[in-house]
Amino acid sequence: MRIPFNTFERQVARLRPEIDAAMARVLDRGWFILGPELERFEEEFAAYLGMPHAVGCNSGTDAIELAFRALGIGPGDEVITAPLTAAFGVFAISATGATPVFVDIDPRTYNLDPDRVAAAITPRTRAIMPVHLYGQPADMGSLLELADQYDLRVVEDCAQAHGARYRGQPVGTLGDAAAFSFYPTKNLGAYGDGGMVVTASEAIAERVKRLRNGGQSARYAHDLLGLNSRLDEMQAAILGVKLAHLDEDNARRRAIASRYDALLSGSAVVTPYVAPDVEPVYHLYVVRTPNRDALAAYLHSHGVGTMVHYPTPAHRQGAYAGLGYGPGAFPQAEAAAREVLSLPIYPELTDEEVVYVALQVQSLGEGVTIES
Ligand SMILES: Cc1ncc(COP(=O)(O)O)c(C=O)c1O
Repeated sequence: MRIPFNTFERQVARLRPEIDAAMARVLDRGWFILGPELERFEEEFAAYLGMPHAVGCNSGTDAIELAFRALGIGPGDEVITAPLTAAFGVFAISATGATPVFVDIDPRTYNLDPDRVAAAITPRTRAIMPVHLYGQPADMGSLLELADQYDLRVVEDCAQAHGARYRGQPVGTLGDAAAFSFYPTKNLGAYGDGGMVVTASEAIAERVKRLRNGGQSARYAHDLLGLNSRLDEMQAAILGVKLAHLDEDNARRRAIASRYDALLSGSAVVTPYVAPDVEPVYHLYVVRTPNRDALAAYLHSHGVGTMVHYPTPAHRQGAYAGLGYGPGAFPQAEAAAREVLSLPIYPELTDEEVVYVALQVQSLGEGVTIES
């Protein structure tokens, strides 16, 4: 059996007639930027989350930058976030001129550990960016309490968590603003780049709208130093099709995850911990073992694709050498980076394939010799 870590072939086949119709609509209309498809998708995505405002942009990275800039965060400010994440998200903080300040993760959830956040707060701290990593909501209750206590803004990085819930509330509705990515592999993915800022504040939404379009208040009147970061009509139309399938896709991801959980319980790998009161959406299904590299090689040789999210935490990236975090600065994030392995999980994965993957993983604990 050959099971790729990810594939779009099955997804495209499943959705093809709807996608073709959406793309034809855009081509026939001949309106490609800031048009009716985007307006409709923004309304539908906002309604999906039960929020008043959603503003499309070119990527999740831009969505984070735009949200922080709309909140007035920039040079001289510090933003607390987790080191085990996509470096892009942290770069977006840096792009505003603010400095990312890392805080170690809770090794069970892989999310920002609120108990360590207070110690990292300085007079320059202006915001916290929790990342709902792998599709599991961060401990928002504790983080929002801290934000309240220290008068900090909160921008949720929801790039991996479309539709996930914290105490019954969708993520993206809990902070001052939230950023979503529509990178193709995400739970809600475009067939190109895309992102969205979601907020309850009309003022923030208006500012993001202006910033994403060159900072213009009217055509050729650039009042702000803006970006060129629009969600194009083709991607908005495609995303509109896919949004209608998001809940069923997330339900399938959860079913696959619970199958993996059951098949891998008692095996040599640690399966994902789910915090109380959260409903994860399993953007990734991440197991953990000190024999990670050997397990990945073994699975590869048995036709199973895997990936590591993430082999190098953001504070150890070359681009952040100047921040001065040495090895060991965040032991939990660094240990996770050495031990986590993402197994295939996508709605089109069959039950038979899930069982096959789990059986291969189980062989690790059952005396199959694996060369490290
Ligand atoms: C947690 C996280 N934050 C931010 C991003 C950036 O999103 P994008 O690739 O759409 O810029 C990603 C995706 O790569 C991500 O997984």
